[in-house]
Amino acid sequence: AAVVKYDWTVDYLSAAPDCVERLIIAINGQFPSPTIQAVQGDTVVVNLKNNLPTEGVTIHWHGISQKGTPFSDGAAFVSQCPINPGEIFTYKFVVDKSGTYFYHGHFGMQRAAGLFGSLIVSLPPGEKEPFSYDGEFSLLLSDWYHQSIYLQELGLSSIPFEFVGEPQSLLIQGRGKYNCSLDLCPVGSPDCLQCNASANAACAAPFVLPVQPGKTYRLRLGSAAILSSLNFIIENHNMTVVEADSHYVEPFVVDNLDIYSGQSYSVLITANQEPTRNYWVGLNVRGRLPATPTGLAVLQYLPSNSSSGLLLPPTPAPQSPVWNDFAVSVAQAEKYAAKTGLAYSAPPAKSHRLLIFLNTQNTIDGHIRWAINNISYVPTATPVLAAFKFKLWKAFDQTPPPDRPPPSDNHLDIYATPNANSSHARYGNGVYVFKLGEVVDVVIQNTNTLNPNNSEIHSWHLHGHSFWVLGYGKGVFDPQTDPAQRYNLVNPPLRNTVAVFPYGWVAIRFIADNPGAWPFHCHIEPHFFMGMGTVFAEGIHNLPHIPSQTLGCGLTKPNW
Ligand code: C2O
Ligand code: CU
Repeated sequence: AAVVKYDWTVDYLSAAPDCVERLIIAINGQFPSPTIQAVQGDTVVVNLKNNLPTEGVTIHWHGISQKGTPFSDGAAFVSQCPINPGEIFTYKFVVDKSGTYFYHGHFGMQRAAGLFGSLIVSLPPGEKEPFSYDGEFSLLLSDWYHQSIYLQELGLSSIPFEFVGEPQSLLIQGRGKYNCSLDLCPVGSPDCLQCNASANAACAAPFVLPVQPGKTYRLRLGSAAILSSLNFIIENHNMTVVEADSHYVEPFVVDNLDIYSGQSYSVLITANQEPTRNYWVGLNVRGRLPATPTGLAVLQYLPSNSSSGLLLPPTPAPQSPVWNDFAVSVAQAEKYAAKTGLAYSAPPAKSHRLLIFLNTQNTIDGHIRWAINNISYVPTATPVLAAFKFKLWKAFDQTPPPDRPPPSDNHLDIYATPNANSSHARYGNGVYVFKLGEVVDVVIQNTNTLNPNNSEIHSWHLHGHSFWVLGYGKGVFDPQTDPAQRYNLVNPPLRNTVAVFPYGWVAIRFIADNPGAWPFHCHIEPHFFMGMGTVFAEGIHNLPHIPSQTLGCGLTKPNW
């Protein structure tokens, strides 16, 4: 195995990915940030220089297990102190599993500033994928806002609360086009003037996927979305799903693919349509009332369309299923099954511990917050990992957070507004501590938000592990009957990010076998910012040596 080295500088960049100029946080001046290419078993070394004049930064390698290197996980105040302006931090980790990944900023809302890029891990030489293809493309998908993340953060923490709202555009591999003619763009506003001025300029050129008729291509997709549940669709072309979050799945065919923030997929497409024209690749919002036009790229059939510039498809933008048809989304989510054989292991038959996480939206001291079992997460000033390693018990809340929703009522009412089980939410940063090797089930239970008759999709991501998705259900999870009736223990898919649907639950199982401290949180950036997450820790007596460059904040400040 090789050592793959990158020297990166993080900087502000003023750029217009959708034709409207805004402030981006970029690596080496690129948006999206540079792609990492490595082979399974390689060691990736990234020397990251923070050139931002006035803010710290961290990078999280989403989906990478970080076995033995929990300090390289890049979660601010969990695995490390933010890297200060002018400082260099070296991330070093082994990519132990082939597949499609991405990385992103993990401090405040920095991902929303465009700080994300692809990370592709290919199979070692001599090993073959369980499917074949002639070429591949990697498409990082995102929703895009014109407002700076600082104003977004301010709005989310203000009284009255100001939400980030729906995105202005959707980007495919960093490219989109703002629609100046929408109400989104009041005539005469600076955004609009700029947009009109550049409407036909190169900034509006869609990303192009050139294909040869008859050939099959692997599309590697990842969602770095801030808020939106996305739906990916290619005009006239079916997709065969073969990989989810770096794990092989039993192949199945879809004509549109739901992808929630933090998820990645590989799909196979065959260029088997009329080759004299090109086709739209489209990205739409699902799960929220859309106010954002379709993001577009072009599937370009070679050679007939290669000569006279890019021929835009003659058809309207592709439509996805209607945004609130949640049954369609649940049905697609339930189709995933692991491809067994190939290094797949089925989950242990039983778990040692069951956590039921009631997701609620609350007000705390007038602030709108998200909470899990009444605790709304606020980051500590000391990295949690360092707190365990150096026994800095004052660093975080020593009361373990509750395994179950508080019994303020003798039954869970997930439809009430505000939630009866969660009327006394508070801020906290307690940690769930597991024994090394413990088998843990988490049931994520969705509820009504503070708005009557409204429940939202959340996309839950666990650092440092893959988990089995055992099953989904509607209404209130029943620990007596649901495991027997609704769990798949034979070939549940392994993932690192899973959606919980409105008024429903999802059950996951994982083995706490990775000594470290690992965030478990909703991957919707404003939700995590508003407290929707917690930290899991395990093997706290088996933690590796922690490099001093991760330290220097909170209780880890050197004592001169
Ligand atoms: Cu991709 Cu903690 O996130
Ligand atoms: Cu959420």
